[in-house]
Amino acid sequence: MRKKLVVGNWKMNLTRSEARAAIESLLLLIEPTTDAEVAICPTYLTIDTVAQLFRRSRFRVGAQDVFWGNAGAFTGNVSAAMLKDVECHFCIVGHSETRGRFGKLEVPESTIPYFSETDETVNLKIKALLYQSIHPILCVGETLAEREAGNTDRVIQSQLKGALEGIEGAEFWEGVVAYEPVWAIGTGKTCDSAEASRVCGMIRASLAEIFDEETAEAIRVLYGGSVKGANAQELFSQPDIDGGLVGGASLIAEEFSKIVRSV
Ligand code: PGA
Repeated sequence: MRKKLVVGNWKMNLTRSEARAAIESLLLLIEPTTDAEVAICPTYLTIDTVAQLFRRSRFRVGAQDVFWGNAGAFTGNVSAAMLKDVECHFCIVGHSETRGRFGKLEVPESTIPYFSETDETVNLKIKALLYQSIHPILCVGETLAEREAGNTDRVIQSQLKGALEGIEGAEFWEGVVAYEPVWAIGTGKTCDSAEASRVCGMIRASLAEIFDEETAEAIRVLYGGSVKGANAQELFSQPDIDGGLVGGASLIAEEFSKIVRSV
């Protein structure tokens, strides 16, 4: 039986004092039960602060990205060993924002190359995380143009294959996949729950082809994209959705606790 999982992705938000205040409010509002896991992925700069505040709770801390090298001349980057050192349990990889797939209107075109992660770099990152026993949260999802062209399943299957190339089922057993339709992220547009469940089911079937049935049954498949208190229960009650990856709503303690309570 897969344990439900809710992960808050704070993205580039909250300074140290703001992060501390947000976690203190969260700890007053909820305590994860033994049947569900809850994690927060803050910026690199506040992981340690959050990890310390979580120390006597069941909450987990995670990172939003990682670099695959161990150490060395990689200015601006952070390794999986460094994430392990600050007690990261999870790490997001291949988010559509780090893949540079967010709307060009919101980001000047000249900055897109700074966010140009590929399936190959996602694969290297997953291997580096697994080596440190950090559970990867692999994000996959289609853009609106890909959906409208009828390519949703094909795009996601190819992202999964590329990201999981050369990885054994036994290694990814505790890994997580998050289905995040790019057009639903931060837009307020949620994917219809039946369609989100269908895609999550398709992801599980692809995982069974890449690994095997048993591994695919163990891997948690989350939905992400404008999850909020008002729609969480409907989404999380779908048979193929094991929880959520929550962006904007994870910054507000009351809203995030509502989402957690719905699992
Ligand atoms: P959102 O972001 O909940 O703000 O849409 C989700 C995500 O990017 O993981």
